[in-house]
Amino acid sequence: MADGRSPFPAVRVSDRVWWVGAVDWAVRDFHGYATSRGSTYNAYLIAADSFTLVDTVKAPFRDEMMGRIASVVDPGRIEYIISNHSEMDHSGCLPETIAAVRPKAVLASAKGVEALGAHFRLDGIRAVKDGERMRLGGADLVFAETRMLHWPDSMVTYLPGERLLFSQDAFGMHLASGERFDDELPDRLLEREAAKYYANILMPYAGLVRALPGRLSRHGIDPRIIAPDHGPVWRGNPGRILELYARWAERRPEPKAVIVYDTMWGSTHRMARAIGEGVAAAGAAVRVMPLGSNHRSDVATEILDAGALIVGSPTINNTIFPTVADALCYLRGLKPKNLVGAAFGSHGWSGEAVRELERTLREMKVDLVGEGLGVQYVPDAAALARCAALGGLVAERLSGRRPA
Ligand code: FEO
Repeated sequence: MADGRSPFPAVRVSDRVWWVGAVDWAVRDFHGYATSRGSTYNAYLIAADSFTLVDTVKAPFRDEMMGRIASVVDPGRIEYIISNHSEMDHSGCLPETIAAVRPKAVLASAKGVEALGAHFRLDGIRAVKDGERMRLGGADLVFAETRMLHWPDSMVTYLPGERLLFSQDAFGMHLASGERFDDELPDRLLEREAAKYYANILMPYAGLVRALPGRLSRHGIDPRIIAPDHGPVWRGNPGRILELYARWAERRPEPKAVIVYDTMWGSTHRMARAIGEGVAAAGAAVRVMPLGSNHRSDVATEILDAGALIVGSPTINNTIFPTVADALCYLRGLKPKNLVGAAFGSHGWSGEAVRELERTLREMKVDLVGEGLGVQYVPDAAALARCAALGGLVAERLSGRRPA
């Protein structure tokens, strides 16, 4: 029953499913992740004998979601709401939606019931079990827990009749667009933004990602459409995102080094450039990423397929530079695996930064190559040659060759 008045139309995903989410063209920071292309908060409407809403949207976008729902049906006809994930970009307007719609039931995982209760003091949410099958409003559904992908409450919902998987955050990306489907967007853009999302959200849980296809398969989940909570719906080539996740979760690094650093008066910058030249001269790929012009989340994206992390910092007040501390704190939390690395930096007198960097890299289980390289004040030609040599050492380690 379309009302024909909403400026926000729903988009048909399959016979029974409509996209009724919101496009956030403005968001540029998502809890520390630079969303340089904005995002979407996807919600879906299953139309069967009655109507079921899968997830909601961030609180300020409730009107947009309700408008899209109203373009299909009177929202009061929604009988069930499924909350696959309680993070507030998907649950922020859940209390208001429940108040407006008065559904017969709201369903979530057991951990979701706890989390929604803690966020919104919501009572009466029904817990579904891992692998539970249920007929809701004439639609058969399967629920599967995906704990820690990426919150304890996370689960997915499968509509077997259409082989459609509502995958919540998994397989998503932060990308605002007018297009709703993968087959309407360039492959390179999809891969880049999906990689950024995986690196910044899911990289710490690579083991669970590796196990995910098996878990889904045991529950009879074999999707031909994957509908995540962010970015486009994978209908053209859902196998592509499954393959990419399998590859990223394997964590087999390329011969590529990421050099991340900041600088006070240009000396650490000069060292970084010389190290980069050394890496490239020895045949490995290199990304030189000064933190003045590279966001921590873009550094994380480059590390996704890199084999080396080289970090540089000047010493300031007997410690590392604050922007480098910020980036390292963020990267340490993402738990990148199978990295070699090195530390470098210039100093005026005490020079603690390089040792601190090495300590942190060891804590991250980065295999250090050579000695950390400290230079007093401004690097001369000999110091820059040592920098280039350090880059060469790292590249040789990446290629599996040991220096003579
Ligand atoms: Fe898109 Fe974990 O929220």
